[in-house]
Amino acid sequence: MATSDLLDLSGKVIVITGGAQGIGEATAELCAARGASVVIVDYNAEVGTKTATRLSEGSQHVDFVATDVRDAEQVKAVFDFVQQKYQRLDGLVCGAGVLIGPWLQPEEFPIEDFERTLDINMKGAFLCSKYAAPMLEASGKGVMILIASIAGVSAASSSLAYGASKGGVNGLGMTLESHLRPRGIRVNVLCPGNIVTAMKLSVERRLPAKVGRSMKRSSKPSKIMACLRVSLA
Ligand SMILES: NC(=O)c1ccc[n+]([C@@H]2O[C@H](COP(=O)([O-])OP(=O)(O)OC[C@H]3O[C@@H](n4cnc5c(N)ncnc54)[C@H](O)[C@@H]3O)[C@@H](O)[C@H]2O)c1
Repeated sequence: MATSDLLDLSGKVIVITGGAQGIGEATAELCAARGASVVIVDYNAEVGTKTATRLSEGSQHVDFVATDVRDAEQVKAVFDFVQQKYQRLDGLVCGAGVLIGPWLQPEEFPIEDFERTLDINMKGAFLCSKYAAPMLEASGKGVMILIASIAGVSAASSSLAYGASKGGVNGLGMTLESHLRPRGIRVNVLCPGNIVTAMKLSVERRLPAKVGRSMKRSSKPSKIMACLRVSLA
């Protein structure tokens, strides 16, 4: 089978959370370009609408549904919308996420920021899986992709809450896989390294002050900065 056949998503309906920008936006663009109907879910209505409008310029259907993935009612409404419009769901990509409190020691870390991070990164993915599972099962070959991170799985994070949440997403994904495989749903957890997005750059901007030296002068750049340079080259 040719590679192009493997990536043909014609006729598929795919929900992508965090699809307004960054990795989610790139995923939405790829899926739309491969023929899928895409539903972008994000709480940033301004950017999400722009992204959906841009991606709809071809012949593809790209919707935007303003949603906070922490809110069960809002998440349920996304899948009600998909059921009503398409009567099917083939894929779910959970990319909505935040990184809060980089470089803070535990005693400095605000409890509400810890809870907010877990609510968005981990509970948000659970809520999406909860309402998507019956529809993915009905499609016969549904796919669920959770975007975790190397942070919390095989490397340390700059943020205690982020590292904890991403370890949780990995555990959620492995458990979902064992529960949903018998129902015909394939679950994968992706653990990216450092990708240059708004999230990553907002952390990197705070690094020089934290370590007390400028990025340019640093004779021993951190692993993350080295990756960023390579990515930006
Ligand atoms: N950039 C990296 O280096 C990297 C590495 C590993 C994993 N990841 C993960 O990849 C995913 C995408 O990250 P990114 O780098 O593209 O970041 P990003 O900040 O560019 O995108 C995250 C998106 O999630 C949305 N979002 C945040 N909270 C939300 C909420 N409560 N409800 C709905 N949407 C919400 C934001 O509005 C944004 O559009 C995240 O889960 C992140 O943890 C990123």
